[in-house]
Amino acid sequence: MTDDFLWWQDGVIYQIYPRSFADSDGDGLGDLPGIMARLDYLQELGVDAIWLSPFYPTPDKDFGYDISDYQDVDPRFGSLADFDRLVEEAHRRGIRLILDMVLNHTSDQHAWFQEARRSRDDARRDWYIWRDQPNNWQAAFGGPAWTLDPLTGQYYLHSFTKEQPDLNWRNPLVRQALLDVFRFWLERGADGFRLDVFNAYFKHPHLPDNPRKLGLRGFDRQHHIYDMDQPEMMPLLNELRHLLDTYPERYAVGETYMATPQKTVSYCGPDKLHAAFSFDFTSSNLLYPWNAVWVRQKIEGREDVFGAAGIWPTTVMSNHDLPRAASRYSRGAGDDAQAHMAMALLLTLRGTPFIYYGEEIGMRDIALKRSEILDPPGKKFWPFYKGRDGCRAPMQWDASAQAGFSTVQPWLPLHPDYPLRNVEAQRADPGSLFNFTKKLLALRKEMPALRRGDLVFLEDTPPSVLAYRRETAGEEVLVAINFGHSPASFRLPDGKWEVVLASGTPEPPGSLGPGQVCVMTN
Ligand code: GLC
Repeated sequence: MTDDFLWWQDGVIYQIYPRSFADSDGDGLGDLPGIMARLDYLQELGVDAIWLSPFYPTPDKDFGYDISDYQDVDPRFGSLADFDRLVEEAHRRGIRLILDMVLNHTSDQHAWFQEARRSRDDARRDWYIWRDQPNNWQAAFGGPAWTLDPLTGQYYLHSFTKEQPDLNWRNPLVRQALLDVFRFWLERGADGFRLDVFNAYFKHPHLPDNPRKLGLRGFDRQHHIYDMDQPEMMPLLNELRHLLDTYPERYAVGETYMATPQKTVSYCGPDKLHAAFSFDFTSSNLLYPWNAVWVRQKIEGREDVFGAAGIWPTTVMSNHDLPRAASRYSRGAGDDAQAHMAMALLLTLRGTPFIYYGEEIGMRDIALKRSEILDPPGKKFWPFYKGRDGCRAPMQWDASAQAGFSTVQPWLPLHPDYPLRNVEAQRADPGSLFNFTKKLLALRKEMPALRRGDLVFLEDTPPSVLAYRRETAGEEVLVAINFGHSPASFRLPDGKWEVVLASGTPEPPGSLGPGQVCVMTN
């Protein structure tokens, strides 16, 4: 491993949900020029790359994850010319761009599907998956994964909503067309891709029923052994990697569907994906609460698997599909201690951190009435599951009307805390999560140990304290987090330890206030 900074491994990636970041034209929806106008902010924060959730033409049945044209920009978000300018302006600031590739399915409004459904003999028919009779597969967003298309009397497969028909990756023409989509954006300057549910591209050729198991919803009552993770995925990843490697420093990160660390590493390597998500820290619940013991177990679990396989991990606390970390863990509206902890873990564990927009100011999920819910699974499963709109609220830039996001009422309500919780206010507050994040990002840049160093736990710490060192031959950093409600102290390893960054009121090295995070160097 060389010491040269490798952007996708040493860098930090910031996820933008374009419709919620910045609205430049006053239609209540964020857009590409809005993002462009905020690049200086991202540079000031210190991120190395942006992952843009989909901005392609879409009828919005799954808010951009149902694409009707892979090679254009939805006019509500801008134009291809805006995209080109965004690439240029981002690159001028040393920021790379990662695009979301949603290639398991198209929108039902995509020209390919419109043609495919015309007749059983249409040249495009086999671009999708049709059957006279459905099998038992279930859609992740509820109900059967098959819908009857009355015109031709056959059922088509859709793993998500019925407006998202699954593509038939076994058809060589489909494969070619989709690889061309990568080429199209590579040529326009994209630095990498996030592959949406990539491990579901291939289904078992005979579409057998999935075996049943216990579970709450229909989808969870099956072992998903025939509708995902088929062996054909590996040669495709080889081919994709080969394509990416014909350009300098390009990157692909996969969204592993139903991820475990084991499954995730199997898709990564020098001839496969650079990285894939395993959502190690997003599943704490009543049985497995967010505390020092649970977090350590999760870190050890992934370190064992990724370490043994020699695969570089990624770290995710929040994204557009999950309740935000600050909402999951905070004890009250004004309490940012837990958000500091989550940020410290995100930026100091071994792996590439993915920050979700607004995470740097501790944005919380919005609460919606049933009538306000837009997200399809939220509509379907309310009140048991309220969907994903909560984490997609507009970015809180300042205390002005519409939070500096737009001049009109945004597509989703603003969080009512925005007059107090916003970028401008936190910039001016030395103790804010924003300034903590910014300092930690700067420390990562300065200290190779925080990027490449080994991770070694401190033993004999009190049960509420999680502490670990990141170390290289010449450098040591110690991160200590007190998950408890009372002060705690622990024995420091030998050396002259100095606190370089702490949340809350400073304490001497080896002491931590309740809910405090402390970063030390030796
Ligand atoms: C992925 C996306 C999610 C989307 C789904 C279907 O899980 O992250 O937002 O709804 O795929 O495309």
